[in-house]
Amino acid sequence: MFIKTFLPLLLITYASSEKFRFDNYTLYRILPKSLDEIKVLQNLYDSDSRFDFWKDPVPNAEYVSVVSAPQDKGEFETYLNRNGIEFEVAMQNIQDTINREVVGKYTRNNIRSMRWDTYYNLNEINTWLEDLVMEYPSIVTMISAGTSYEGRDITGIKISHGEGRRIIFIESGIHAREWITPATVCYLINELLRSTDPETMAAARDFDWYIFPVTNPDGYVWTHTNNRLWRKNRRPYGTEFGVDLNRNWNTNWLMQGSSTDASTNTYAGPGPFSEPETRDLANYLKTLGDKIDIYLSMHSSGQILLIPFGNTTEPLANYHDALNIGRRAMGALSVRYGTPYTSGNIAEAIYKATGSSGDWVKEHLNVPLVYIYELRDRGTFGHLLPADQILPTAEETTDSIIDLIHQAKRFGYMSSGNSVTVSFGIKIVLSIMVFGKFW
Ligand SMILES: *[C@@H]1O[C@H](CO)[C@@H](O)[C@H](O)[C@H]1NC(C)=O
Ligand SMILES: *[C@@H]1O[C@H](CO)[C@@H](O)[C@H](O)[C@H]1NC(C)=O
Ligand SMILES: [Zn+2]
Repeated sequence: MFIKTFLPLLLITYASSEKFRFDNYTLYRILPKSLDEIKVLQNLYDSDSRFDFWKDPVPNAEYVSVVSAPQDKGEFETYLNRNGIEFEVAMQNIQDTINREVVGKYTRNNIRSMRWDTYYNLNEINTWLEDLVMEYPSIVTMISAGTSYEGRDITGIKISHGEGRRIIFIESGIHAREWITPATVCYLINELLRSTDPETMAAARDFDWYIFPVTNPDGYVWTHTNNRLWRKNRRPYGTEFGVDLNRNWNTNWLMQGSSTDASTNTYAGPGPFSEPETRDLANYLKTLGDKIDIYLSMHSSGQILLIPFGNTTEPLANYHDALNIGRRAMGALSVRYGTPYTSGNIAEAIYKATGSSGDWVKEHLNVPLVYIYELRDRGTFGHLLPADQILPTAEETTDSIIDLIHQAKRFGYMSSGNSVTVSFGIKIVLSIMVFGKFW
């Protein structure tokens, strides 16, 4: 108890004194022309942990994104040149981009002060959520999916216009450095509450929305206080920190695309659900069980829409329907700004990776439609997407989510929208019958 209670304080004190800097760290955008070149990059990926791959070398990769520390750049470029691999420098000095990043202040009790051209820290996001509950007390409630390793609440909100609705569940920010995901999801929340667009209003009314902007609160705080490019949670393992919370779910755990080495970014943890963040969220999801129609897991980057599973390229479950629905929704996404998305199951569209939330939800809760978004961009800024792209990213993503509902209905999914009124009608009929019989 003692340790658990005081650990956050210690870490926070330590935090403010030491901030990791990325001076002269460079982001490369590599354009492989053949499978041989991909293999050369894979060798590097497998054997050299000095390089941080933001986009992995997978077969058919359009591009590969890699960050190098200044002292390793010479060796890295020589390696690429020797193998004839084309590359460009996407960002010469990552610290410059971090310095230019806009992190805003939200004014308590003023929901209109929430902006879409700036990122926010965890406190600001949660304060805004609390204010929404005050502003819309009959529609919005605060929900909690549990507690993080350092003792932070995993906070979300539920938007509900009444009983009996089916659920759309959105999990975002499980990877700490993917800041565009909480920002996008906050915009969606705002639209669901304040939009005057009839389709958006109908979507808000017809479903119970469970939305968790930051499911990895310790990691997210760490990206604001100490290391902007942190991905995992913050639990110590030996001398290392953090488990990749999207490799820790109890579904084909540690089978593919994850590591037993705690120093890596894809460390799966000592066992499935070893981490409080994943265990608590999974238990919370179990209580909602078969009421969930759509589950969305938000990530960046690469502009890809993924469906389960990550262990095989085989089309499992309702693969064909899910992909068809998803592709149409990505058509709707591209209308506003022309942003192209590719799609496929995790294994075919990015890489074989197991132990992710999407696979677990599909396998264990049988949720009909599960999608994993990899939001903007395609390697120019990666995890450091400038704040002026928050609004367009959020708008187009919201367009696609509204269309996802529309397409799902066309394919015979989600009877929810109508069933609220239908079941209400039936209830009236039934109660008339009951009354008729006994009176
Ligand atoms: C970054 O590189 C520039 C140019 O080579 C150099 O002048 C500067 O000292 C470097 N900064 C750090 C912090 O290493
Ligand atoms: C992949 O995972 C799913 C879900 O656990 C399972 O049903 C399927 O048999 C697995 N396929 C392969 C090839 O491992
Ligand atoms: Zn991610």
